[in-house]
Amino acid sequence: MKLLTLKPEMHLYDTCKEFHAEIGFRDTDLIITNRYIFEPYFSGLPCKARIIWSEDYGSGEPSDEMVEKMLPDTQGPFRRVIAIGGGAIIDIAKLFALRRVSPVQDLFDRKLEIVRNKELIVAPTTCGTGSEVTNISILEMKSRRTKLGLAADELYADRAALVPELLSGLPFKFFATSSVDALIHAFEASLSPKATPYTSLFGHKAIEIILKGYRDIANKGEKARLPLLRDFLIASNYAGVAFGSAGCAAVHAMSYPLSAAYHVPHGEANYAIFMGVFKTYQRKNPHGGIRAFNAFLAGILECAPDTVYEELEKLLAAVIPLKALREYQLTRRDLSDFTRSVMERQGRLMANNYTELDEKTVLGIYESLY
Ligand SMILES: NC(=O)c1ccc[n+]([C@@H]2O[C@H](COP(=O)([O-])OP(=O)(O)OC[C@H]3O[C@@H](n4cnc5c(N)ncnc54)[C@H](O)[C@@H]3O)[C@@H](O)[C@H]2O)c1
Ligand SMILES: [Fe+2]
Repeated sequence: MKLLTLKPEMHLYDTCKEFHAEIGFRDTDLIITNRYIFEPYFSGLPCKARIIWSEDYGSGEPSDEMVEKMLPDTQGPFRRVIAIGGGAIIDIAKLFALRRVSPVQDLFDRKLEIVRNKELIVAPTTCGTGSEVTNISILEMKSRRTKLGLAADELYADRAALVPELLSGLPFKFFATSSVDALIHAFEASLSPKATPYTSLFGHKAIEIILKGYRDIANKGEKARLPLLRDFLIASNYAGVAFGSAGCAAVHAMSYPLSAAYHVPHGEANYAIFMGVFKTYQRKNPHGGIRAFNAFLAGILECAPDTVYEELEKLLAAVIPLKALREYQLTRRDLSDFTRSVMERQGRLMANNYTELDEKTVLGIYESLY
């Protein structure tokens, strides 16, 4: 039984200046970032690196088309790839640390050999994906109307750099949707059949930090997050460690078609599905590991174990308003198309469900959220 993989070296830098002083931006570096993230923090500091501004190649979450478009500008004698951005930037940068990326569809279908030939340094600027510690890259596959994950050890960063200052300009909306993604990583990892005492150690701590922070925000307003950014960055990293070994499951699997077809941001799409899956787990198998998990949540939420999902729903709604699926313009037809896509294409994630969810149950969850 594998207990835990803890791959990249992890560093915390209080400021961007400290990060820059240690890493330096050399002429053999390829930096992938956004102008509005990089410039406020690094524009006064020496930089010889080539910089790729992701927004010049498309907006929203990354797709196979976007990566193909970037390809010509990422060629050169680079020794290091440095990602400074949210999960979208990090997932792209992971691919450009490989020797061969194109055709991207072939890479994701594992028809290309995956060979890593550059060092990879990752500095997350949201508090959600944990991608700095996972071996996964996720892209929207335009022609297939869904998102796919490529999981391979060659995608681990060499260094994860946590720089809380980078989050100081993160708008509340992205703070909220990214941190709920981290929360869901920790939830899915906690009930995964691959969970171990080690993944639970990280996952449970992440849940505690995030839910306590959400309580502060619910009581005092959006600004209450500002003194907590470092804690949230660490919590998303912990959640990344947890799901990096224990895996994500149905919430992610069912959110992918929603994100791909209607361009709903990753964290928000997960949030739309979250309670539907966990309430179904509770209904279908109340006597398994979910019992101890609910007791743990009850301790944090200060409620009875049989009311944790209702209490959690209320707390989350105070941070991010929940939308029904129909508010994203989904049609009833989409629900059956999405179900088919999940059952056919998301086996990697559906294998980690707490209890088996068959096609009828998946469709039922989508319908209950419609
Ligand atoms: N590889 C993994 O393990 C993994 C896990 C979960 C999610 N993901 C992927 O990560 C992506 C979502 O990542 P995300 O939630 O970090 O969002 P994101 O990277 O899409 O960023 C959201 C928005 O916030 C902006 N932004 C980010 N940091 C900012 C900052 N500090 N200041 C101002 N603006 C900032 C971005 O430019 C973007 O507009 C999805 O594509 C998802 O599939 C990957
Ligand atoms: Fe996620």
